[in-house]
Amino acid sequence: MIKLQLLLAKPNARDKGSYAKVSTGNSVSASIPAIVIGAGGHARVLISLLRLVGELKPVGILDDDETRWGEEYDGVPILGSASLLKEHPGNAEACVIGIGRNSVRARLFMFARQHGYSLPVLVHPSAVVAADVSLPAGVQLLANSVVNPGTKLGENVILNTGAQADHDNRIGSHVHLHPAAILAGGVEVGEFTYIGTNAAVNPYLSIGARSMVGSGSMVTKDIPDGVMAYGVPARVIRPWDGV
Ligand SMILES: CC(C)(COP(=O)(O)OP(=O)(O)OC[C@H]1O[C@@H](n2cnc3c(N)ncnc32)[C@H](O)[C@@H]1OP(=O)(O)O)[C@@H](O)C(=O)NCCC(=O)NCCS
Repeated sequence: MIKLQLLLAKPNARDKGSYAKVSTGNSVSASIPAIVIGAGGHARVLISLLRLVGELKPVGILDDDETRWGEEYDGVPILGSASLLKEHPGNAEACVIGIGRNSVRARLFMFARQHGYSLPVLVHPSAVVAADVSLPAGVQLLANSVVNPGTKLGENVILNTGAQADHDNRIGSHVHLHPAAILAGGVEVGEFTYIGTNAAVNPYLSIGARSMVGSGSMVTKDIPDGVMAYGVPARVIRPWDGV
């Protein structure tokens, strides 16, 4: 299986300071066929990123909404349901998961891996990633996101537009930081959790797994597993199983 990483912090980036501002520049010739899953807003952002960076060529979209099969979305044909992954349509070698919902993203991630796809790391050229940060399969760091030194990311994590994970965070697999969410230093986030748009988390707190921190929240205390919490300061509102 190809180990494809669209853009990665270079090992020698440390020589230039604490941060690797990763970019290969624009207009690299597109060569590796990629299938995109999902025909919604997140997929659209990723298709735009693929075109900006140019190492992967989107050859088709898979989406379970059969009313859209045969249409094009941003110039890419919608070929059928996600089960078509098994057939490697368009000879796709890479699978880009354009879905924001964590449980669905995780299921598709496993399925694509089982069927021999590479799950590329996607890093927008404007993202800032510290040189010591490893980027496991499927990680997506969108425009203006920041990952500071000592932070560990699990597989298939999304830092959406402008989201920031400061130093020494531990972010579990399949977590989604929504746009402009901010984790201060030393925060732990359990797998499958969402941190909502423009929410902020104080240093050294623990956010449980499979929880939802609502948009605009200011988290000042630990949040347990499996709850919805929001507000300023954030309070646990109720148990939550909407992952
Ligand atoms: C937390 C969240 C999931 C709650 O959604 P919900 O269960 O549908 O909640 P409702 O819309 O039914 O709202 C119920 C009440 O809670 C309030 N509420 C909901 N989310 C809130 C939030 N984040 N902060 C403060 N109050 C909130 C509503 O105003 C409403 O109050 P009311 O009863 O006085 O009218 C949602 O608000 C949220 O924050 N989602 C994250 C969205 C996001 O960031 N998406 C980005 C995708 S890239």
